[in-house]
Amino acid sequence: MRIEINTERLLARIEALGRIGALPGGGCKRLALSAEDAAGRALVTGWFCDLELDVHTDVIGNCWAIRSGHKDLPPLVMGSHIDTVATGGLYDGVLGVLGGLEVIESVIDAVIETEHPLAVAFFTNEEGARFAPDMMGSGVSQGALDLEEMLAKVGIDGVSVADALDGIGARGREPVSALAPCAYLELHIEQGPVLEAEGTEIGVVTGVQGISWTEFAIAGRSAHAGTTPMALRQDAGAVAAGIAIEARAIARDFGSPQVATVGRMRFAPDIVNVVPEEAVLTVDLRHTDDAVLQAAETRLFDTAEALASDEGCTITRRSLARFEPVSFDPDLVGQIAEGAKRLGLSHRRMPSGAGHDAQMFAPNCPAAMIFVPSKDGISHNIHEYTAPHDLANGVRLLAEVALARAGVVKPEGQTA
Ligand code: GLV
Ligand code: MN
Ligand code: MN
Repeated sequence: MRIEINTERLLARIEALGRIGALPGGGCKRLALSAEDAAGRALVTGWFCDLELDVHTDVIGNCWAIRSGHKDLPPLVMGSHIDTVATGGLYDGVLGVLGGLEVIESVIDAVIETEHPLAVAFFTNEEGARFAPDMMGSGVSQGALDLEEMLAKVGIDGVSVADALDGIGARGREPVSALAPCAYLELHIEQGPVLEAEGTEIGVVTGVQGISWTEFAIAGRSAHAGTTPMALRQDAGAVAAGIAIEARAIARDFGSPQVATVGRMRFAPDIVNVVPEEAVLTVDLRHTDDAVLQAAETRLFDTAEALASDEGCTITRRSLARFEPVSFDPDLVGQIAEGAKRLGLSHRRMPSGAGHDAQMFAPNCPAAMIFVPSKDGISHNIHEYTAPHDLANGVRLLAEVALARAGVVKPEGQTA
C-alpha cells in the first residue's frame, strides 16, 4: 500500500530539532546526554505524545514510541539517533528518527491499521563523541554491550554515563532488551560521496564495516626545547606523531576500503618550548573484512610499541570500541531494493562506512538500512546537507517497506 508523506512537516521538524544546539554558521552540537540532547529529547518525545503514541524509555535512555497494531505482535521499529558530534549537521541520525515519525503520522493520517505495531526509536549516544563506544544505547538494548559497564564509562569531560543520564533525567524504567522488534529499519544519509557522484537516488545498504577505536597514552620526559640534544629526548609527542603517520601508511598500504583516522591528539604540558611529557591520541580503523581489520590493528600496535621503545617512552593502549563487520538481512535488503523499484527510484547496493544502530539489531532480528545522498559526500560537518526531494524519497521508501513488513489490515472504518 502506498501512502502520501508530508514533506513540509518532515522538513519543519528537522529544522526545529536543528535549532537545538545550533552552531554559528550552521550545523548542531548535541552531544549525548548534554543539556542540548535533553532539549532535543523533549522536543521529539513531545511530538510522540502529540500523536498519542505509547512512549517508553529504558535504563540507558533509549526512547521509543509505539502505534499499536491490529494484533499483539512485536513492533516494526524505525529508528536512529538524535545526538550529534560536536560539529554535526542537521540530518545524521535525525532523518531516521523524524523519517520514522513521519511514516507513523502519515499512516495515522491515512487511517491505516497495520498487523504489527509500528514504532519509532532514538538511541542514546550513537555517536560516541562524548562517551566511547559509539552505538552505546542500541548496543546495550540488543545485548552487545553490558549495561553496568556502559553506565560506568567516563566521557571526555570526566562525567560518567550514569551521572549524565540522571543529570538530564533520561534514565527510564524499561529493562535492557525491552525493545524486541519483528524487524528494524533505519533511514540515514549516506555520509559519503557515492550516491551523489553516480546520480543514484537510493543506497540499499548491505552491511556495516568493522570498527576499531584505540586510545594510546605515551609517557616520556618534559625537557627544554632549546638545550636538550635530540638523542637525549624522550619525546611523547614525537611518538604520537609517528603513530599518526603509521595509521595513514596502513590505510595506504592495505588499500581501499581500509581507512584510518587520528581524530584526537593532545600533549602535556602543551607548551611551545617544552618537549611533551605526555601524549594521548586515538586511532579509528575500519574495514569490511574483519581479518584485514585485525591485521591492520596488529601492525599499528606493533609499530606503536617500537616507536615508543626507540624514544625511551612507555606506552599503554586501551580499546574504546570494537565492532565486527555486520551483514544485513538479505530478505529485508531485497525488500528495500524491490520497494525502490516499485517507487521508480534509482538504487544500488552498498556497504556503510559509518557505524549505525541498525548493526546492533542485526544479530537479533531482520535489520537493514536505506541511504539517501549527501551533498558533496560530507557529514560530521556543519555543512552536511541532503536535498528535500532526497529526504522525501527516503521516507517514501521507508514507508513502503515498513508497511509491507508490518502488514496492512484494511483502512479503518471500511468493511473488508
Ligand atoms: C558513527 O557515526 C561512526 O561511524 O563513527
Ligand atoms: Mn548517524
Ligand atoms: Mn554520526
